[in-house]
Amino acid sequence: MKLLAIETSCDETAVAILEASGDENGATFSVLGNSLLSQIDLHRPYGGVFPALAKREHAKNLVPLLTSSLEEAGLLIEDAQIIPEETREKLSTLLTREPELAEAFLAALTEIERPDIDAIAVTAGPGLEPALWVGVNFARALSLVWNIPIVAVNHMEGHMLSALATRNEDGTLVIPKNELPLLGLLISGGHTEFVLMKEWLSYELIGTTRDDAVGEAFDKVARMMNLPYPGGPEIDRLAGHEREDTNPFVLPRPMLDAPNCDFSFSGLKTAVLYLIKERGELDDIQKQQMARAFVDAVCDVLWGKTSRALEETAAQTFVIGGGVAASSQIRAMFEKRIPESHPQVTLRIPSRELTTDNALMTGMAGYFRALRKEFADVETLRANGNLRVAD
Ligand code: KG4
Ligand code: ZN
Repeated sequence: MKLLAIETSCDETAVAILEASGDENGATFSVLGNSLLSQIDLHRPYGGVFPALAKREHAKNLVPLLTSSLEEAGLLIEDAQIIPEETREKLSTLLTREPELAEAFLAALTEIERPDIDAIAVTAGPGLEPALWVGVNFARALSLVWNIPIVAVNHMEGHMLSALATRNEDGTLVIPKNELPLLGLLISGGHTEFVLMKEWLSYELIGTTRDDAVGEAFDKVARMMNLPYPGGPEIDRLAGHEREDTNPFVLPRPMLDAPNCDFSFSGLKTAVLYLIKERGELDDIQKQQMARAFVDAVCDVLWGKTSRALEETAAQTFVIGGGVAASSQIRAMFEKRIPESHPQVTLRIPSRELTTDNALMTGMAGYFRALRKEFADVETLRANGNLRVAD
């Protein structure tokens, strides 16, 4: 099955084309095309993602990314197309509030022949709703004009399933058969949750944050230290510096001893704020120490809760996914502690390119949904910023 995947949930615009085969007992994905444009540099002056800007950039970039992905896949045939009036009207009706977008998409599609694609996978949520809508509307336009079915993908399911993939030498992505139950720790800019999969593609929420997401805490703490957005990679880099002295900063481990699998990160963030206020501006060494103290606290909490969740669920496989799973310290911590304390559990840590947002994740999750023929209705499909993967 060939899938065209579209991801616009936050500040990355991404389009990929995958050729997929297999099922939950082992699936293979050849990456035929993969284009991604990050808006990070544009949002940096705002210290975070500015929704109206994200929306505008997605709208501007989707067509060029589609063209380059199709070209890379050898599926681009540029030739004048006649789009029936009926199709144009249908799209205009669906995009009543976005007439310019409808016009722009139609104009682009009058120049591209229908490619050999079996399904369009698009992220429908969760994420920034104005950003999600651009991708969803683009998918609707492609679906109507090319008559290709749409699969609506949950972004968190994308993080979870793509985190199970490994890359072969030839670049093919492989999701092996996984022993269930499978416990996922999803840590991103908007989410921090334990999701349990007892049966393939059926999820149960085991724990979640009561306030900030862990990525949000990374970003806010970085901001307090005058580091640029996004703060996660900056903190990661600073925390990696070797230190000989003992760390002068002592930070709390919120909810570590609470008898559940929930998290809280806002107190940790506030503790950093108070320490910085007390000291005034931090010098370079102090920044490294603070980053280290923060990451150590995060690691202790993540570990304590994971250990509990693994015991409570008797999980056979454990996977981390989401942007924060790129953290060197968090990766190293799980690589060391899982085999020591839970040797029966298979640990899956995704390659870094698959932790932060991309369209491959959307395509992989979309494939498993398409196998089940879970296609969306073009007319009623909605973007949903609060879409949940489990209750
Ligand atoms: O999954 P993602 O790309 O977008 C969301 O769905 O939210 O995650 C973005 C988050 C940001 O908070 C960013 O600071 C964090 O992932 N992040 C990191 C690292 N790279 C990205 N956090 C810690 N260490 C990193 N290396
Ligand atoms: Zn994400």
